[in-house]
Amino acid sequence: MTDPLYAELLQLAREAARRAGELLRDGRPADLEVAATKSSPIDIVTEMDIAAEKLITGLIAEHRPDDGVLGEEGGSTEGTSGVRWVIDPLDGTVNYLYGLPTWAVSIAAEQDGETVVGVVAAPMRGETYHAVRGGGARATGAWEGERTLTCRPAPPLDRALVSTGFNYVTEVRAHQAGVAQRLIPLLRDIRRGGSAAVDLCDLACGRLDGYYERGLHPWDLAAGDLIAREAGALTGGRPGERPSWDLAVAATPGVFEPLQRLLEDFGAWRD
Ligand code: IPD
Ligand code: CA
Ligand code: CA
Ligand code: CA
Repeated sequence: MTDPLYAELLQLAREAARRAGELLRDGRPADLEVAATKSSPIDIVTEMDIAAEKLITGLIAEHRPDDGVLGEEGGSTEGTSGVRWVIDPLDGTVNYLYGLPTWAVSIAAEQDGETVVGVVAAPMRGETYHAVRGGGARATGAWEGERTLTCRPAPPLDRALVSTGFNYVTEVRAHQAGVAQRLIPLLRDIRRGGSAAVDLCDLACGRLDGYYERGLHPWDLAAGDLIAREAGALTGGRPGERPSWDLAVAATPGVFEPLQRLLEDFGAWRD
């Protein structure tokens, strides 16, 4: 039976992700512009990132005022309950700006530092993915319906479809391009979807065999990492470490280790 606290957190996360997803899908101005830049000129934020985060943090404050919050767009507060929400209100802002459909709302809840609930809503796909620690991962959606998520069986590495992403900082990107260049001949192919959260959920759905990226923040990873793990994926960082800014690797068992080893050989976490 699901812990009643986890059930409450899941319900709130699903409601917040649904409402933020609808706001982003239905409220996107046709003339949407970049409102500000962050770590580099291509690291953008729009008024809709900010509006979605306000909606989510407002709903959490209304229902669970003692919880802490870490939100990408600065909506962060200290809490006293031991629960902290880790929020990416719009993962895939560049896709969203251009009108590409791959973007998501990502909401995770941590209890005493461990992710216990993760929800990723991808409104343009009509799909939402969710997981509770120890309770498996599920998806709802029109295409494949409501279902339990399981990674696909591992192919040999040279038949593996692996997704990645590129950070916004020029030096990091240049190094990442070099790593990808060395990997491509060793894999079936590489994808660059534009949303880390969707990449991790695609792995959970069996639509990818693996995913890796350097330079991710906790809000990019938190919900998708739990959903991927609960679907049977292995996730980590550099060998023996958890996923971090240095490196996040996630893959179906059998692809994880060889992929992590190659990334280590290629020095994927160096700039
Ligand atoms: C980005 C996306 C992208 C990844 C970047 C992230 P944002 O998040 O997840 O796929 O490659 O590293 O920063 O800025 O669109 O929320
Ligand atoms: Ca961003
Ligand atoms: Ca993000
Ligand atoms: Ca974001």
